[in-house]
Amino acid sequence: MNATSARTDVRATRLTGCVVLVTGGARGQGASHAHRLASEGATVWACDVLDDDGAALAGRLGAEGLDVRYRHLDVTDPEAWASVVAEVEAAHGRLDGLVNNAGIIHVTPIEDEPLEAWNALFAVNVTGALLGIQAALPLLRRSDYASIVNVASIFGVIGAPGYVAYCASKGALTSLSKVAALELAPDQIRVNTIVPGGVSTPMNEHEKEGGVIPDTPLGRRAHVSEISAAVAFLLSSDASFVTGTELVVDGGYLSR
Ligand SMILES: NC(=O)c1ccc[n+]([C@@H]2O[C@H](COP(=O)([O-])OP(=O)(O)OC[C@H]3O[C@@H](n4cnc5c(N)ncnc54)[C@H](O)[C@@H]3O)[C@@H](O)[C@H]2O)c1
Repeated sequence: MNATSARTDVRATRLTGCVVLVTGGARGQGASHAHRLASEGATVWACDVLDDDGAALAGRLGAEGLDVRYRHLDVTDPEAWASVVAEVEAAHGRLDGLVNNAGIIHVTPIEDEPLEAWNALFAVNVTGALLGIQAALPLLRRSDYASIVNVASIFGVIGAPGYVAYCASKGALTSLSKVAALELAPDQIRVNTIVPGGVSTPMNEHEKEGGVIPDTPLGRRAHVSEISAAVAFLLSSDASFVTGTELVVDGGYLSR
């Protein structure tokens, strides 16, 4: 067996038998995570509010022989969480991974930030992850390898003019992750944060002049698959002693 095929074997089996729920899983990074995790052997519940995109994704990946199931889930709705988690319980009796990836963004100077927009953004980017952890915990406790991955951002570490709600929300999510890591460690549930730099997805289509690219040492945005690789690592037993930390995947942005 050469090195390439050995690596392929690891990929094919690392998450075999795992059940993972990915929010914001219909498009962008979430869709890529669903693809990568299922390719590594997981059963993936991809959840989103974009039902057409989600159903199309599940159909596409299903045709590749991957086990990806799409469900409608508004992460801001506790009852919707209860309903999806009940379905996962009925199907598998446990959950091994939760990826809180759903997120929204808007750009407004701090002086003009509307309260309604601020609250709506926090409801998805922060409260959505809290509700997800609360809903999934009973099932995660039944797993031998439970892991939660929260998707924050370099904008949760630095400030960016115009992005007050987004930056504050990603900073809050990073803090939430640390508390969860500490509280859930006795249950052997690991909780980590991914800190992506710029990633090419529909989210940053509005950015002029390449957004963070000029300040990114590697000189480009990430491909979604490069973030998915980090998510897969954190969910896998390769990260069995990794909890409460931030995995920065930013092309060197924060090292400047
Ligand atoms: N694109 C980037 O440059 C970048 C950089 C750093 C972090 N992030 C973060 O990565 C994550 C994924 O974003 P993306 O880049 O794939 O953008 P995206 O807009 O393509 O994907 C976000 C997904 O979240 C879903 N979503 C929004 N509100 C929801 C809700 N209430 N319930 C369920 N799903 C909801 C959207 O429908 C969408 O499918 C987000 O948390 C984002 O903040 C993105």
